[in-house]
Amino acid sequence: MIEPLYNPSPSRYDDGMAYRRAGRSGVLLPALSLGLWHNFGSRQSFSNVQEMTHYAFDRGIVHFDLANNYGPEYGTAEENFGRLMERSFRPYRDELFIASKAGYDMWPGPYGNWGSRKYLMASLDQSLRRMKLDYVDVFYSHRYDPETPLEETLQALVDIVRSGKALYAGISRYPLGAARKAFEYLAARDVRCLLFQDRYNLFDRQPVTSGVLPLAAEAGSGFVAFSPLAQGLLTGRYLNGVPADSRMAEDRTLHRDVLTAEMQERLHALDDVARQRGQTLSEMALAWLLRDPRVTSVIIGASSKVQIEENLRALRNTDFSDEELAHIDALCGL
Ligand SMILES: NC(=O)c1ccc[n+]([C@@H]2O[C@H](COP(=O)([O-])OP(=O)(O)OC[C@H]3O[C@@H](n4cnc5c(N)ncnc54)[C@H](OP(=O)(O)O)[C@@H]3O)[C@@H](O)[C@H]2O)c1
Repeated sequence: MIEPLYNPSPSRYDDGMAYRRAGRSGVLLPALSLGLWHNFGSRQSFSNVQEMTHYAFDRGIVHFDLANNYGPEYGTAEENFGRLMERSFRPYRDELFIASKAGYDMWPGPYGNWGSRKYLMASLDQSLRRMKLDYVDVFYSHRYDPETPLEETLQALVDIVRSGKALYAGISRYPLGAARKAFEYLAARDVRCLLFQDRYNLFDRQPVTSGVLPLAAEAGSGFVAFSPLAQGLLTGRYLNGVPADSRMAEDRTLHRDVLTAEMQERLHALDDVARQRGQTLSEMALAWLLRDPRVTSVIIGASSKVQIEENLRALRNTDFSDEELAHIDALCGL
């Protein structure tokens, strides 16, 4: 069967998506971005991968967040993205902002993990081959490596940008002190850190409490929030137990023991607040992040087009009263 050519929606930029500036840079990112960590690899049906990514682009989500080890299996989210480039997205390459990363275990032996120049350089070359790209828009050091001198990791990022294989550099999950050094090191070499990526959601306020979110803003770096729905916990998915096709049912990165009776009560109470706002729990959890102008983009995950559709509705109301914020904090145990 000959597959129909992909024709993106002509109204993709007039359909409610907001674009936010990444720190002090020329780059605008969509308020919601799509991450390909789960559900986009070789264990998924490619037609679902295609449907979700096409739908996202049709609604103005032009930023796709990948990493060498996304799938599952490792590398296969990037391989599928390469198929999408060939089949759908090639004519729209300049409308897309594509991220990849290296920092977690990827291949066996001493050179397939952490933060050495050897690993970062080789991994980016592999990612480009898998994704069928000449360059990525941003390349991240995926995590801080306490054993490798920070200068080695950062100089690899500088050299990658100078080589043209990435247009911008980013860092992810760096502790405060290392993040400060990274912002300074990169800026001193005219390769500013475009994006700092960290986990941030109603239940995990670590970027604020550690001071890394204000630091990124001060340094002129954009901030990208990942796992904004706490991997699905902050959605309607677990209000009545654990669905068989959910991430929690896999018990791999989202564990069943999180869903205690107390947690379920908390989720129902938050769901009530969301309803009073005329939102679903997912919409409110995303809106809560987007209320902060220092958050450049919120990277959602999804297993269906319907979930992306629901999450996009968060953009309709990102205002919260002080009373609502205080009530939400109390319900989150803060
Ligand atoms: N830099 C890093 O170290 C790092 C780490 C983690 C993630 N990330 C990035 O952040 C992205 C997002 O992370 P995440 O997948 O954990 O994000 P998330 O948005 O917190 O969770 C996504 C999951 O929530 C569920 N979901 C989403 N929308 C829903 C809705 N409307 N209704 C019901 N359920 C819904 C789905 O679960 P089901 O699959 O159960 O349907 C989906 O797979 C990743 O893809 C990756 O790009 C980066």
